[in-house]
Amino acid sequence: MAKGQFSGALVEQLEEKRQGEAMQGNGVANAKAKLLYLESYGCAMNFNDSEIVASILKKEGYEITPVMHDAHLILVNTCSIRERAEQTVRNRLRQFSRIKKNKPGTVIGLLGCMAERLKEKLLEQEKLVDIVVGPDAYRELPKLIDECNGGQKSVNVLLSLEETYADISPVRLGTNGVTAFVSIMRGCDNMCSFCVVPYTRGRERSRNPETIVQEAKDMFDKGFREVTLLGQNVDSYLWFGGGPKKEFEKLTKEEQESSVNFAQLLELVAKVSPDLRIRFSTSHPKDITDDVLYAIKNHKNICNYIHLPMQSGSSPVLKRMNRTYDREWYLSKIDAIKTIIPDCAVSTDIITGFCGETDEDHKNTMGVLDYTQFEFVYQFKYSERPGTLAARQYEDDVPEEIKTQRLNELIKKQSEMSYNSNLKDIGRTFEVLVEGTSKRSEEQLYGRNSQNKVIVFPKADYKPGDYTTVKVTDCTAGTLIGELA
Ligand code: 5AD
Ligand code: SF4
Repeated sequence: MAKGQFSGALVEQLEEKRQGEAMQGNGVANAKAKLLYLESYGCAMNFNDSEIVASILKKEGYEITPVMHDAHLILVNTCSIRERAEQTVRNRLRQFSRIKKNKPGTVIGLLGCMAERLKEKLLEQEKLVDIVVGPDAYRELPKLIDECNGGQKSVNVLLSLEETYADISPVRLGTNGVTAFVSIMRGCDNMCSFCVVPYTRGRERSRNPETIVQEAKDMFDKGFREVTLLGQNVDSYLWFGGGPKKEFEKLTKEEQESSVNFAQLLELVAKVSPDLRIRFSTSHPKDITDDVLYAIKNHKNICNYIHLPMQSGSSPVLKRMNRTYDREWYLSKIDAIKTIIPDCAVSTDIITGFCGETDEDHKNTMGVLDYTQFEFVYQFKYSERPGTLAARQYEDDVPEEIKTQRLNELIKKQSEMSYNSNLKDIGRTFEVLVEGTSKRSEEQLYGRNSQNKVIVFPKADYKPGDYTTVKVTDCTAGTLIGELA
């Protein structure tokens, strides 16, 4: 994937394994503009937040530069999900502070998920940054930068019960002009024992659906043809006027009548145009409803693709993970998906080596893969995060080499599954949304089908943003290869 460029794919696809990406603006820098170098790590949500930050700072006269040495302001939007993500950012901050030594006026800011946890360390002890701003305080950035220019170190890591940046129209960075992310909610109220997100991003709150639909319309008018609705747990989206998440049953009668849930939101966005594709991420097995599945079934432009993290296929491990479902529940959701939308692709996340995971637990996870045949599996080695339930309650007792061994088994299985799934597509014809020129050849384009699989095919007269029909003739584990039908 090109620097700073998003695919319309998954939140987790973009996690910290991908090195930080310098965000690229679209325009030519104005000689007098203040220059902002903005680097982002982590999930799609975080990349979308960077687009909000760029929008806020654009109003203050900042323009994006891809050259960090030119910048007056260097911001790094960080991820805390695994220890390695944090380590990468720390190394990067050391490089930025060397730039500052040669250019003392440069302001260096730490944004995002690492802000709350590491503010004191990075700001006061290690003096690596000048400002620290948490995910709910980006509107304060201009003020904090001003304070910093006045010689003061500034911090705002307050998490909000209300903030959704609903009124801010993100500046699309590094865009392919075809696919874009639209945040529909912020924060997370689930207490998965391994996860740091509830601590770094705060309470769950949903964004006003009118502003979501308006943003999707604007994107369509600008030529975009696919939006991915983003949230930590999209199935629990519920608009009832704003503020922290409440269960539907706890709403007043009036609130219930005017409320909008995720299935309803999908339908509202689907109606923007039949030529606008809709994807979403991430779903939670405890919250995904049949209504969501029927919304996908009933609207051709809502893509036949669901990312449904399982985390483990063993019920005792799921219990310790506090996922609030067991293996049978997860499998029943897979069955519902396959029954209601037979042609739906499903991907998942799996953590190997969570506290107390035995060989048998791992075998049970592998067994679910045999049963389900996911189109893709994102695998992660368990990484203990300070302050989480798991860190407080359980010992991180699976040896590193066993974590790695289980991960490798998963990787092998995943590659076989993807290849088998792709082989089944040979001979089939798909509608493809063209996203760009293939990396391998100028004569080939690439795009995705509804199931989120990448297809490479001859260019002819097509261009990014067009729909075309492609017959699959060959494949690798990662890509379908086809000809125009
Ligand atoms: N260690 C390893 N993987 C984690 N994930 C979340 N927290 C951790 C952790 N502490 C994984 C989960 C989640 C994905 C985004 O990252 O699988 O779905
Ligand atoms: Fe995204 Fe979670 Fe990483 Fe924060 S910690 S950037 S929410 S993946």
